[in-house]
Amino acid sequence: MHHRPRSVEDAEVAGRRALVRVDFNVPLEDGRVADDTRIQAALPTIRLLLDRGASEVVLMSHLGRPKGPDPALSLEPVEARLRELVPDERIRLLENTRFDPRETENDPEYARELAAHGDLYVNDAFGSAHRAHASTEGVAHLLPAYAGLLLLRELEELGSLLESPERPFVAVLGGAKVADKIGVLTSLGKRADTLLIGGKMAEEVERDSGYQLPDDVVAAASFEPDAEARVVSWDEVPDGWLGLDVGPATRERYAARVAEARTVFWNGPMGVFEWPRFAEGTRAVAEAVAAADAHTVVGGGDSVRAVEELGVADRIDWISTGGGASLELLEGKELPGVLAIPEA
Ligand code: 3PG
Ligand code: MG
Repeated sequence: MHHRPRSVEDAEVAGRRALVRVDFNVPLEDGRVADDTRIQAALPTIRLLLDRGASEVVLMSHLGRPKGPDPALSLEPVEARLRELVPDERIRLLENTRFDPRETENDPEYARELAAHGDLYVNDAFGSAHRAHASTEGVAHLLPAYAGLLLLRELEELGSLLESPERPFVAVLGGAKVADKIGVLTSLGKRADTLLIGGKMAEEVERDSGYQLPDDVVAAASFEPDAEARVVSWDEVPDGWLGLDVGPATRERYAARVAEARTVFWNGPMGVFEWPRFAEGTRAVAEAVAAADAHTVVGGGDSVRAVEELGVADRIDWISTGGGASLELLEGKELPGVLAIPEA
């Protein structure tokens, strides 16, 4: 059973300064926010604090991985977008917490400096909850600490996949960062009824059976050259060829499994979907997930981008704002940013 942090809804807020860790690590383009999903996702908590009469809502976040102050990673564009969304004078956004190297060192003095901005602390940065940094972990020990609404919803959505998924539970895993995902593969392999594997991951599972997948796993993409398109699916990749997408038979089999599911979790594309020619496998999965009569959860940056680009995002029940954080949670790990908040 996971640690259940107490909710911001139970905090005394009126007349107090709320210091809120959000995950505003968003993509920028030409000095503007290119995708404000993570900003939008934090608004319910920000609005709750304002509605309950907080005297100030002081927001803090990292952006990118700067090695010291770096104007290209300033939160100014984020602040501009935030002010358009919630024009309330009580909101203040601190500059990128990682401009100070003490942030990632979880330095106690830096945590004290941050804590000085608030009378209570709210962590709504699910995407950063797997980091034990000053703004995500250290500061939680210095002020009365609460979980924000987004953080709680993420824990509930992802936690329910581990604890009580309606069955059949089908997990679809793909993507390129295979080493980061072995833990999740193993964890979901024990819990899901079917595991569908594509992308670079299918290749590696093939090569190394040491992952101890259960017998009923459809360890994927079984060997099918797609003669027509000259695209080769993951398993039967002849020498000198690269597997760039799952082929038509695999797509059909995967879509059929997803269609039977009552719960689906999907992380990672099936192929190099950025290239239209190799997007068919990812598209087939995205459409099957969107159409499924199931509770559907998608996590991880690339699969989130895929469901958005393929236009099915609004037919998915929950799209996690966390990449690494959602994977660590599904591995069964406790997240330091969550553990630091007292239970209800
Ligand atoms: C993310 O986008 O994955 C989170 O904001 C965490 O960022 P990090 O991987 O640089 O810690
Ligand atoms: Mg990350």
